[in-house]
Amino acid sequence: MTYPGPGPIANAPLIDTFGRLHDNLRISVTDKCNIRCFYCMPEGPINYIDHSEILRYEEMERFVRVAVGLGVTKIRLTGGEPLVRKDLDKLIAMLTAVPGIRDIALTTNAVLLEQHAQSLYDAGLRRLNIHIDTLDRERFHHITRRDDFDKVMRGIEKAQAVGFPTIKINAVAVKNLVEPDIVPLARFGRERGIEIRYIEFMPLDHQGLWDKRKVLTADEMLALLTNEIGPLEAIPDADPRAPATEYRFADGIGRIGFIASVSKPFCLNCNRLRLTSDGKLRYCLFAIEEMDVRELLRNGGSDDEIAAVIRENVRRKWIGHEINAQKFIPPPRPMHSIGG
Ligand code: 5AD
Ligand code: SF4
Repeated sequence: MTYPGPGPIANAPLIDTFGRLHDNLRISVTDKCNIRCFYCMPEGPINYIDHSEILRYEEMERFVRVAVGLGVTKIRLTGGEPLVRKDLDKLIAMLTAVPGIRDIALTTNAVLLEQHAQSLYDAGLRRLNIHIDTLDRERFHHITRRDDFDKVMRGIEKAQAVGFPTIKINAVAVKNLVEPDIVPLARFGRERGIEIRYIEFMPLDHQGLWDKRKVLTADEMLALLTNEIGPLEAIPDADPRAPATEYRFADGIGRIGFIASVSKPFCLNCNRLRLTSDGKLRYCLFAIEEMDVRELLRNGGSDDEIAAVIRENVRRKWIGHEINAQKFIPPPRPMHSIGG
């Protein structure tokens, strides 16, 4: 399918019909993962995307160059688990070299981080978000169905030793499960200078496990942390379009953030576009429709044609997800192939 070329508005920023400026691109580099968090992946056999359909690094880089021409300045690499893809440091180095890219971050489960932290840093990566929900080995095993807790801990230690200036931890907050982990994670963050971000459990598991009553909300977690550790002060938004609401402990030690996608949706501030590992553009984590760019990248499409698809995708963006509505339809792709 072709879309109208960019024409005279070739360099206009990516603004959707609700006035939101899009400068943030999330790229899922693989749908594969080495662990099996129950809220993201099924336990049994998984139909991974065929290797031939996965974008090559050169194709991702080309896409990024076009997106930068439309105003994208920030990139996050996600998965699946990005570190299961070979030579990820090469992609980081290629993207770091793209003029106009101001920020590159990586979301990882840290199972393979110990062996890759140094080469990622050397390639130019400075920001890491590490996904871990608990500091309890048993519960880690229960949630991820893998016994890799020690590797993750070693990965975090290595990343700190290598000197990554920004390391954050992402913890998914599922009710009646992780309440005992909220406070220990915050204490761990306070000791190590790592910000903990609690993410409300979202309906992305594809096994129908989600239910609003299973969401541990930001307010509930805030109460737990205040009671057990001490008062928290809201930090005025450095970036009003960032999804997390951030707090610092009143004693000056440590920061936490809440990504309250369910209890306080932040869609009105959304600045994100998503590219899947098989080359589809998605304007929302929960989007039903996707638009293909792989054909253009592979079969001689011009930069203008790729730019036109990006613009059209932004133009079609809806006002926000409807997790809380009766009519909510979960996205047809599971989380591990959207990229969070
Ligand atoms: N709900 C909320 N967050 C999730 N993640 C994965 N699945 C879910 C879910 N169902 C988070 C993980 C991962 C990030 C990309 O998204 O923390 O690191
Ligand atoms: Fe893997 Fe991340 Fe999904 Fe867990 S949430 S199974 S670490 S892709």
